[in-house]
Amino acid sequence: MQTPYYLFDEATLNDTIAHLKAGIPSHVSLCYAMKANPFIVTQAARSVERVEVCSPGEMRICQSLGISAHQIVVSGVHKDPALMRELVSGEHAVCRYTVESTLQYDVLEECAQDAGVRIPVLIRLSSGNQFGMDKANVRELVARCKDNPWVDFRGIHYFPGTQRTSAKRTNKELERLDAFMEELAHDYGYATRELELEYGAGLPVEYFEQDALVARAKDDEQLAALGDALARMRFPGKIVVELGRAIAAPCGTYATTVMDTKCIRGQRYAIVDGGMHQLVYYGHAMSMQQPACHVLPEREGATEQERWNIYGSLCTTNDVLAKQMPLPGLQVGDVLVFERAGAYCMTEGLSLFLSRDLPRVFVRDTQGMLRQVRDRIETYTLNTPSA
Ligand SMILES: Cc1ncc(COP(=O)(O)O)c(C=O)c1O
Repeated sequence: MQTPYYLFDEATLNDTIAHLKAGIPSHVSLCYAMKANPFIVTQAARSVERVEVCSPGEMRICQSLGISAHQIVVSGVHKDPALMRELVSGEHAVCRYTVESTLQYDVLEECAQDAGVRIPVLIRLSSGNQFGMDKANVRELVARCKDNPWVDFRGIHYFPGTQRTSAKRTNKELERLDAFMEELAHDYGYATRELELEYGAGLPVEYFEQDALVARAKDDEQLAALGDALARMRFPGKIVVELGRAIAAPCGTYATTVMDTKCIRGQRYAIVDGGMHQLVYYGHAMSMQQPACHVLPEREGATEQERWNIYGSLCTTNDVLAKQMPLPGLQVGDVLVFERAGAYCMTEGLSLFLSRDLPRVFVRDTQGMLRQVRDRIETYTLNTPSA
């Protein structure tokens, strides 16, 4: 197959979601943050309770794929009022809406009133960044929801960050949330079991461990810590853990072909047809660590490893995918397959840099059938000034 391309494997996605569910208490459900990978949202939505949508574009993707409005959480610091009006006045009135500011509350309330519907909202508590609001502001809005005919306060949304590895911090955070949910219920006359907590746990993915079993064991340790912290919570209401990376990363691979090889001052270089604009691993700046990767065709019985520097096609010294990577002797035409590339790679890359094409995308279904879900897309037209 012509490279570069992404391949997302549905069976692996299903296994990952089942594994995550098994690692958290049974009363806790999952929400897929589709920003991690919009190409698997249909498949993920079959096995998770909710899908988090953060932009008009993501909403349009869900609408065109027929993702149920009942599953959607409309989130994001910037909510387009025109889109909110459209959603609230149609079948998407049943989505959950996060409220991230007083202005967002006002807009949503007005939209709901004009549409004559009552919309479910999750008020977003900030973890000390631009998302959501502080406790005092959250309280003000909870008070405004009380007996409000248009805005139905369902609970709290909280996202402290991605790739989080401190079990201690997660524990503390969930303890604080536990107490806050109790306070809100008490102070504003809700039963805690009626409320919800939507919690973006930021469960990390181990990208730089070559041995898949060791990587999995490290991820499992973090999952177990999250499971324990959730199990310790007193909160009796609904808890939804919102995850992107941990759901999407394991199912994806990114394939790129060696286009040239050379030796410069004793260093081996391979130039590939992809690059860092299409392969984004959290913590991979300047390739100080090596992502999991294998070569095709496989070298049977190859024991000799050489050290290779893998560079992309972007004509910048930053475009390095791996430094001093132990690999069997590389040749032009070999394909490097980078693993755990299912989350954020295809959306966070510098896709327009150097006007290179966007890669093709394939999904392999549970029967092993490969389907192209996006063709190669030329980007130079986007970078061409109009006459
Ligand atoms: C609100 C929210 N939820 C969930 C996520 C997904 O985070 P992760 O990919 O670390 O699971 C993000 C990521 O930015 C987010 O902003």
